[in-house]
Formats: sequence, structure tokens, C-alpha cells
Amino acid sequence: MAWAVEAMSTFVDSEGHESGLDCGINLQAAQIGSRFSIYYFSVHKSEKSVPLKISIRPETAADIAAIEKVTTSAFLNAPHTSHTEQFIVNALRKAGKLTLALVAEFEGAVVGHVAVSPVSISDGTTGWFGLGPISVTPEHQGRGVGSQLMREALRILRERGAGGCVLVGEPAYYGRFGFRADPNLVLPGVPPEYFQAVSFKSSQPRGVVSYDAALDARD
Ligand SMILES: CC(C)(COP(=O)(O)OP(=O)(O)OC[C@H]1O[C@@H](n2cnc3c(N)ncnc32)[C@H](O)[C@@H]1OP(=O)(O)O)[C@@H](O)C(=O)NCCC(=O)NCCS
Repeated sequence: MAWAVEAMSTFVDSEGHESGLDCGINLQAAQIGSRFSIYYFSVHKSEKSVPLKISIRPETAADIAAIEKVTTSAFLNAPHTSHTEQFIVNALRKAGKLTLALVAEFEGAVVGHVAVSPVSISDGTTGWFGLGPISVTPEHQGRGVGSQLMREALRILRERGAGGCVLVGEPAYYGRFGFRADPNLVLPGVPPEYFQAVSFKSSQPRGVVSYDAALDARD
């Protein structure tokens, strides 16, 4: 019986936690003779594509510890990370550079966060912002939380009259929100395909982009 129970919990971990799905196991046992049992189990999953019903709101001071946990856990196994994202969020906040900081709440818990801060562009263009870090707890990833945070952050920036937004990230993900690599905008040290921009206005800036010094925070 011990091996059967252990096998089941492994199954729940890899399927349930990594995919963020609701999983359950039905177990039936058939007795064979007096010593051996055969275990039948079936797994049911909820639909992967069902978006999580979250609410999005500006962060408050009471969220800070939860945001730190969400950010740390989101980037724990992410590719291309320095694992400093939680420090960056804290440093931006401390420097008063969190133009926008939204949390995604699910069943009373913070499961996602997005930070937006001002950037400067060497041609003197103002009103542009850098989006990131954006984080969703691993167990809630892939259920639309990141997309909802992205869309809400961009909607608010537009509403406030921002000129545009830049970010560093996977083109395959951020392309769906309108971000494209722009040969006229350069972030030194970052491969051009990973540095993407979306303009909210007709003017197209041109130059070297600089983030706030808080993006260099290491602790
Ligand atoms: C990136 C992240 C914020 C996306 O949030 P999410 O809630 O998981 O994403 P959504 O459910 O809205 O979107 C899921 C889609 O994004 C895609 N996606 C997620 N991360 C991706 C990545 N790094 N590269 C390419 N595609 C990605 C998924 O494949 C899925 O695609 P599909 O809709 O075609 O099936 C989240 O996965 C996360 O916190 N990741 C770890 C931290 C990180 O890498 N942050 C971004 C860098 S600042």
C-alpha cells in the first residue's frame, strides 16, 4: 500500500502543481488473496484553459510581504533570471519609482504582481515606461493571470496619456500585447529581439533607453 500512496502523491505534484490545474484522484482497491492489492486510480482535471477569476487592484503596503513571495516564487525556476526581481520591486517602491504596481488577487491571496516604472530615452522623449517585473505564482501560471495584469497595466498607462512602454522578455509572450522589437530603441547589453516596445502615440522615439537605477538592485 505504501508504494501506491507515494506514487499517487507524486502524480498530484507533477500534474497539479506544475500545471496549476485542479486534480483529483479516485482510488479503488481490489483484494487479491490475503496479501496483495491492486489499486486502480483515475485522475480528473479541470480545463487547463479556464481563466482564473481574479481581481486586479493597486498594491497597498499590506501586500508587500505577499508580493515579495509571489515574485520570488515566480522566478525561482524561470529561465533568464538573476533572481533579483523581488529586490528590484522593493527598490523601485523605496525610490518612489513605482508608477504602477498592480496585484492580482484570487480567493483573498495575492497570486500575481506587475511593476511599471519610468524610463528615459536619449532623444529626450518623455512619458515612456518600462514594464516589469511581472510575476504569477507557479501554481497559478497559464490561467490568464499574467495576461490580465498585462492588459490592465497597458490600459492604465494609455489612460494616463503615456507615450509608450518597453520591456525585456520573450517575444512569443509579449507579442500578443502589441510589443515588438524596435530597431530605433536600444537597451545596451540586451539582444534586440528581447527588448520590445509598444507606442501609444504616433511619434516614434529613437535612442538608447535607460531604466531607473533600482533595476540594478541586488539585495
Ligand atoms: C510570464 C508570466 C507572468 C505569464 O503569466 P501567466 O499567468 O502564466 O500567463 P497567461 O496564463 O496569461 O498566458 C499563458 C501563455 O503565455 C505563455 N507563456 C508564459 N510564459 C512564457 C514565456 N516565458 N515565454 C513564452 N510564452 C510564455 C504560455 O505558453 C501560454 O501560452 P498560450 O496562451 O498560447 O497557451 C508567468 O508565467 C510568470 O510569472 N513567469 C515567471 C516569471 C517571468 O518569467 N516573468 C516575466 C519576465 S519579467
